[in-house]
Amino acid sequence: MKVLVIGSGGREHALAWKLAQSPKVTRVLVAPGNAGTAHEPLVENVAITAIPELIELARRENVDFTVVGPEAPLAAGIVDAFRAAQLPIFGPTQGAAQLESSKDFAKQFLVRHAIPTARYQTFSDATLAHEYVDREGAPIVIKADGLAAGKGVVVAMTRDEAHQAIDMMLGDSGMDVDYGSGGARVVIEEFMRGEEASFIVMADGKNALALATSQDHKRLRDDDQGPNTGGMGAYSPAPVVTPEIHARVMREVIHPTLAGMRADGLPYAGFLYAGLMIDDAGQPRVVEFNCRMGDPETQPIMMRLKTDLADLIEAAIEGRLDQVEAEWDRRVALGVVLASAGYPEAPRKGDPITGLPSAASDDVHVFHAGTREADGKVLTAGGRVLCVTALGDNVRSAQKLAYGVVENIGFDGRQYRQDIGHRALARRA
Ligand code: AMP
Ligand code: GLY
Repeated sequence: MKVLVIGSGGREHALAWKLAQSPKVTRVLVAPGNAGTAHEPLVENVAITAIPELIELARRENVDFTVVGPEAPLAAGIVDAFRAAQLPIFGPTQGAAQLESSKDFAKQFLVRHAIPTARYQTFSDATLAHEYVDREGAPIVIKADGLAAGKGVVVAMTRDEAHQAIDMMLGDSGMDVDYGSGGARVVIEEFMRGEEASFIVMADGKNALALATSQDHKRLRDDDQGPNTGGMGAYSPAPVVTPEIHARVMREVIHPTLAGMRADGLPYAGFLYAGLMIDDAGQPRVVEFNCRMGDPETQPIMMRLKTDLADLIEAAIEGRLDQVEAEWDRRVALGVVLASAGYPEAPRKGDPITGLPSAASDDVHVFHAGTREADGKVLTAGGRVLCVTALGDNVRSAQKLAYGVVENIGFDGRQYRQDIGHRALARRA
């Protein structure tokens, strides 16, 4: 089989790496990929991103199926375009991808189908939004309604912060958010307390297959300080998701979501990522949906997956997810992200990277994200640069192995957190 992975991040490196291990797969094309995918056995980068060119590539190369990594091509309708061209692809249609691309769509959907989430209201009028904040008080959460690359959410601890966020999102100065055709809107919602977990499933329109649970670290600095990022590290499994909570999430969130999407005429196929807040009573509530796998969650999840990913994706494309099972390595996988100088506000590019391990190992893998190669050197080429992911018998041993490799990797202005996995450790103490 020949398969195509779309994207260029750490998530796509991990998906391509795992697909290349399938005994059925002879070649994995990654469009456009990065310096890490360029060197993976059986994997080859193709430097294109436009949907018509990707369709042309899939046809020319007789690609058996395509997997989409990031949200932007999904929101742009890549799945609809591939299906119209009768090319097998795993991902949600443009309509179904609104679960991520429009927060207002997602919130209306959750309420309509009685799926637990924070109370909210949507505003396009700044005056009404300010009045709502004055009535509700703080803490309160302000979200731009559109794809804002993770930067469109302000968790305001005071009313002042909330007012500023509204002005920034609805004011004339504007911000860099793609609101689509509806104009600027904000969703203002109740602040939820608890512990977050990433709950990702594969869906085929009807059935769901849960992947291993995981937990991300969204803030830039140790102790969850500093600005929000795309994610500075992740590990799997997430001990906060006990077997009871797992069953509850399937029953109260995942199954009602797939049934609701089907009832609404937008059957959901693809990876579905429910960002959950789990309170002290074990009640899971949806913080957000993503219509794709998480980055960096994918890296530890793929390290633990023992089942052939190509088999799972084929089953999903053919609507047979109820007939397959996924088997997981019992060990803990933990990934530490190395980010470039200036990330997340203004990531610097072009710094040479040294100390990358030369030999492959079964227990550690360095997944690349923002990297490129020039004159035989690997250079930084984006905000998140690498994710060093290791397997260990417990969180501590996975940490030890991952950080041992991290400390040898150097580039100017390198940023990383020293405490990936801290919540799992606190839970055990
Ligand atoms: P989102 O982009 O919706 O995932 O939001 C980014 C982050 O903001 C989440 O991962 C949470 O840490 C936080 N957040 C979002 N909504 C809420 C909420 N209603 N209550 C508490 N924290 C939230
Ligand atoms: N790591 C969070 C995300 O992929 O959205």
